[in-house]
Amino acid sequence: MARLKVAVLISGRGSNLQALLAAAADPDYPAEIVRVISNEATAPGLAHAEAAGVPTEVVEHRDFKSRPGFEAALNATLIDAGAELVVLAGFMRVLTADFVDSWPDRLVNVHPSLLPAFPGAAAVRDALAAGVKVTGTTIHFVREAVDDGPILAQAAVPVLAGDDTDSLGSRIRTVEHALLPRCVARIARGGVSVVGKWVTMDDEPPAEAVLTNPAV
Ligand code: GAR
Repeated sequence: MARLKVAVLISGRGSNLQALLAAAADPDYPAEIVRVISNEATAPGLAHAEAAGVPTEVVEHRDFKSRPGFEAALNATLIDAGAELVVLAGFMRVLTADFVDSWPDRLVNVHPSLLPAFPGAAAVRDALAAGVKVTGTTIHFVREAVDDGPILAQAAVPVLAGDDTDSLGSRIRTVEHALLPRCVARIARGGVSVVGKWVTMDDEPPAEAVLTNPAV
């Protein structure tokens, strides 16, 4: 069985990367991690890739005068790696429409809130500040708008008394570590299709059918 070639983009800790590497260590997992790219040379996550024997590359955004220049360098290494799917796992740069369009339904992001609530770089802090009792995580295909795009999966995480960004963020990441590898496996096995905002799996009824079914 040919495994789907996945590149992972990170900016820091890389715990979601670690979850993907652990899943891909199983020869029966339908995807392999072929390259890990960080826009930060000091990202601790790079060490996880090295420990797993996965080639890494640093493409520092600061080295480029323009976003398109940075993204051209990113694309060059993605193409060199033969990537078929790109996962943004704690990658904290906004990507242009040109880059997003060059990976149609092949670019997946993990975001620490139940989108469309709390988009942006401070989703956990914003959820705490809003006083919500439940937040969570969203795995979605990437579109031009930040933290927008067809949703593959979401999971709820309770906000507990006394939570701070560290405790809540860590509880959310634990859920992400289970959900992200499952989403990547679903894509790798095929049968995931995107129609407008809807992601459908070939073994589930299309979302439109559910919405229009008077029995639901
Ligand atoms: C994750 O919680 C991910 O959802 C979030 O950053 C964390 C990265 O953790 N992503 C964003 O906030 C993107 N807007 P990790 O580096 O340990 O995987």
